[in-house]
Amino acid sequence: MSNSILGLDGKVAIVTGASQGVGLGCARQFVQAGADVVITCRRAAPLEKAATELRASGRKVVAVVADAENPEEFAKVIDAAQKNFGRADILVNNVGGRRGKPEGSLLESGPEYWRGTLECNLVSVFSCTQAFARHLIAAKRPGVVVNVASVAAFHASPNLAPYGASKAGLIQATGTLALELAPHRIRVCGVAPGMVDTDSLREWLDDAKISARGRKLPAGRIGLPDDLGKVVLMMASDLGAWIYGATLVADGGELLGDVHHPPA
Ligand SMILES: NC(=O)c1ccc[n+]([C@@H]2O[C@H](COP(=O)([O-])OP(=O)(O)OC[C@H]3O[C@@H](n4cnc5c(N)ncnc54)[C@H](OP(=O)(O)O)[C@@H]3O)[C@@H](O)[C@H]2O)c1
Repeated sequence: MSNSILGLDGKVAIVTGASQGVGLGCARQFVQAGADVVITCRRAAPLEKAATELRASGRKVVAVVADAENPEEFAKVIDAAQKNFGRADILVNNVGGRRGKPEGSLLESGPEYWRGTLECNLVSVFSCTQAFARHLIAAKRPGVVVNVASVAAFHASPNLAPYGASKAGLIQATGTLALELAPHRIRVCGVAPGMVDTDSLREWLDDAKISARGRKLPAGRIGLPDDLGKVVLMMASDLGAWIYGATLVADGGELLGDVHHPPA
């Protein structure tokens, strides 16, 4: 596909949590599509490693250590985009996951699991989106926000109540923020991945379990970070220009149910 159909040449995308996993998959797709990127996470060393990989594309990559869950910190990221590029056009709210011990079922878990996980998946989106939207409005520029939710929003999984509930909340918030920000020419949409082969998934599942699960999916394998990166790229690009407030399920068919593929 020609990059011109995407309309991302010379645009600047901020991707949170981009040192690895889905976030790095997104950043890879943006630089290949001709965009420059600002990547963020909390640890400097893996962030620099990711930035070095992305710079091989020839695009400009700025790495900023910032905690997306801390409302004050994201201002640094906006400042870096302004200083290096004079603009920021796209925000991918990719940071998400579980926080706070003890995790577990209702009977085993503590309030910090619930508070921490809601902060990680929802307060981070509030902090980053508010700073990004205020910047765009002050600069009188349009923009796009893509929120990374999860299919965990749509089904019940034991021990994951705060994660699923916060991702369901994020899907709701994506619609509400789309309504609030549309008058400012800021389009908000979302993606709900199924299983993606990242470090966070591998804390739960080993190689054998990942392969076995993948063989039962309609796609015949679980997702890779670049699969999700392509979907996020589409949503953020001109191809997604008519998508307001919707969250697209991108899960290799996981929500549909298991299938039995014939032996290869
Ligand atoms: N993997 C899956 O199967 C799957 C499925 C559905 C949805 N998702 C969603 O996809 C997103 C990414 O998941 P992933 O599996 O790619 O995660 P991951 O491999 O654990 O990577 C998380 C990234 O976010 C950064 N990060 C974490 N907390 C941060 C914070 N507060 N501020 C800034 N950066 C932070 C991490 O770096 P630092 O630790 O250095 O900050 C890292 O770069 C999440 O929203 C997740 O819920 C994942």
